Amino acid sequence: MKSVGKNIPRLDGYDKVTGKVKYVDDIDIPDCWRGEVVRSDIPYGRIKKINFDKAFDWDKVMTCTYKDIPGKNATIFLSDDQPILAENLVKHVGEAIVLIAAPSASKALEAKKHITIEYDTLDSVLSIEDSRKRKNVIFGKDNIQAKYKIEKGDVKKGFAEADFIVEGEYRTGFHEHAYIETQGMAAIPRPDGGLTVTGSLQCPYYVLKTLKSALLLDETKINVVQAPMGGAFGGKEDYPSLLGMYVALLSIKSGKPVKIIYSRDEDIVVTTKRHPSIVTHKTGVKKDGTITAMEIDVAFEGGAYSTLSPVVLSRGVIHSAGAYKCENTFCTANCYATNNVPTGAFRGFGAPQVFYALEMHIDKVAERIGMSPHEFRLKNCVEVGDRLSTTQLLKESVGAKECLEKVLSAADFGKKWRNNLDTCAFKHLRTKKGIGLSLYMHGGAFTGSGEGMKSEAGLRLNKDGTISVLTGCTDMGQGSHTVLPQIAAESLGVPAALVNTAVPDTAVVPDSGPTVASRTTMIIGSILVRCAEKMKKKLPDLKKRDVKELLKTYYSEHGELKIIERYILPPEIKWDQEKHCGDAYPVYSWAADVAEVSVDAETFEVSVDKLTVAVDVGRAVNPVLVEGQMEGGTLQALGWALMEDCIYKNGKPVNNRFQTYIIPTAKDAPEWKTIIVEKPFSYGPFGAKGIGELPLDGGAPAIANAIYNATGLRITSLPITPEKLYSLYEEKNKIK
Ligand code: MOS
Repeated sequence: MKSVGKNIPRLDGYDKVTGKVKYVDDIDIPDCWRGEVVRSDIPYGRIKKINFDKAFDWDKVMTCTYKDIPGKNATIFLSDDQPILAENLVKHVGEAIVLIAAPSASKALEAKKHITIEYDTLDSVLSIEDSRKRKNVIFGKDNIQAKYKIEKGDVKKGFAEADFIVEGEYRTGFHEHAYIETQGMAAIPRPDGGLTVTGSLQCPYYVLKTLKSALLLDETKINVVQAPMGGAFGGKEDYPSLLGMYVALLSIKSGKPVKIIYSRDEDIVVTTKRHPSIVTHKTGVKKDGTITAMEIDVAFEGGAYSTLSPVVLSRGVIHSAGAYKCENTFCTANCYATNNVPTGAFRGFGAPQVFYALEMHIDKVAERIGMSPHEFRLKNCVEVGDRLSTTQLLKESVGAKECLEKVLSAADFGKKWRNNLDTCAFKHLRTKKGIGLSLYMHGGAFTGSGEGMKSEAGLRLNKDGTISVLTGCTDMGQGSHTVLPQIAAESLGVPAALVNTAVPDTAVVPDSGPTVASRTTMIIGSILVRCAEKMKKKLPDLKKRDVKELLKTYYSEHGELKIIERYILPPEIKWDQEKHCGDAYPVYSWAADVAEVSVDAETFEVSVDKLTVAVDVGRAVNPVLVEGQMEGGTLQALGWALMEDCIYKNGKPVNNRFQTYIIPTAKDAPEWKTIIVEKPFSYGPFGAKGIGELPLDGGAPAIANAIYNATGLRITSLPITPEKLYSLYEEKNKIK
């Protein structure tokens, strides 16, 4: 009974493409009030006074401030520094101060116009540079939300052995998630006096945790249910803890169901973004291409509250030296507070920034010693037996070199790269072609021994003879609620059609940990394999008759059968969090990208013609979904590389709509080729590793390197706009 490795159509696909599915905004809740949020429009200041217009009719309008929160006024993450509603200080534009609910959306919006806030403004800090110089201290003693140092070997010795030392600085800006469905949640009073909170969210148990602590309720009184989602990409990992509290507070105070659905501009202004970054590299290299030392500094902008930044920075710095052999590495990292919107989880989680820097820098290093980018990478790429910058020994499942070899040959890289260099000068061609390469990896699951926490998942035999996967991990469009049943079905030895995934409702499913960190397939999948082994022992021999009938009969004779198991961390993982030393991740997924671009010599517009991607996922449980992940994520990387530019003025995004914040559409999508490499991981279900975030890590530098191959212009900050390309061209050619 084979299910793993099959292109089973997405179980949620039909309802989504036919428009049947009900997203939170579509759910019809009788007598539901609509909520609005009054927010700070200054980046930093003290709240002097909140004015409720006396001339306005406040009848049938409910308002809440922080004073209505019975418990802790904070979202519960790593440091709990972010208030749910501002008390007397606001630290960024868009910070929530007053909540409003009214019987209709228009009434709520009307009420919002009659609330004004008076402030004493304070001097804000709005960039990494100003925060680093401590223009003002806005966070702790030094504006630093997190810092790390990773040391291996002796960089001084490494630099002494080098023939050349190559330095570089690389920058990236904010990046908007741009999920199609904006954030939205609803709170609905239950007949038993409890409250259900539902909506577009990645991590039901995260939301529950904040609700419990702020409302002083236990899980018998409150449950969180994931509604079908139109995308998240990390943007619905932390933020729904705030929005869930808004609707819950309003619902409890008014006694009504309350729904809040963000408009696009509100969503862009107030929700988290990818961390802006400044990454510097200093690399020692010998004439023969041996890398003798790598010194890397990573600076991220954390925004007003630290939320998930400490773990984003940790993942960033761990990946910053990439997939290269080097005896001596020294990596430092700091996350700086500013009065911009808090930055948070976004597909890649710190890795895209460091790979943009590293993979552009590696091309520069190779050029310095006269080696081609592919020969340099082939020579230095890690294999089984090598150690990464955290000293982690790579024992198995290392497809880096095979990905590199396959992508190079599929794209005919070497020949094209040389040809592009040889064609006549840029100005004599209307269109210049370029080809670029990147090599990258992504650690699967939580950092270090993080997966040692008690993640649970299960299988339940239903009355109708079907089996449901029980997990708190959600499907936000990545396909996990199709892939997990495939794993369970094959482990049980039943047809895939008999297995589905239960709706993630904290009253029904166990806490599987959050749906993040490329962990769901690998971690939850492996728990399900163990659940299936146990379940199989209880059930009759499933090979013999009509399986569904057999299961139905079993149910009618024995009742519901439910097996819940916990994740078991591979025993040999050793991690020193203090030193950031050891086995940073149970395993890595590996990939290499080749981008082929055309650059218009008059307008400096770039179009990406083709992307060839080779990816080692251990085992592709559903190959079409793996391809979909690679294409979707790489297209997001393309947008980040070439067009997505969050422009902030005084802490406020200027381009807060899709007319001005430009993301790639189907017309910007290049020709794709995805090559799947399978180097199984012995602790992964059927050998599978994570694929969620990896796709966003490598596209931008491959495109940037292709632009360099085409034009000789190395743009070291994203996005690579025609304006930036032209300025650099002007500078290089001394055009006045
Ligand atoms: Mo994620 S970016 O770990 O939701």
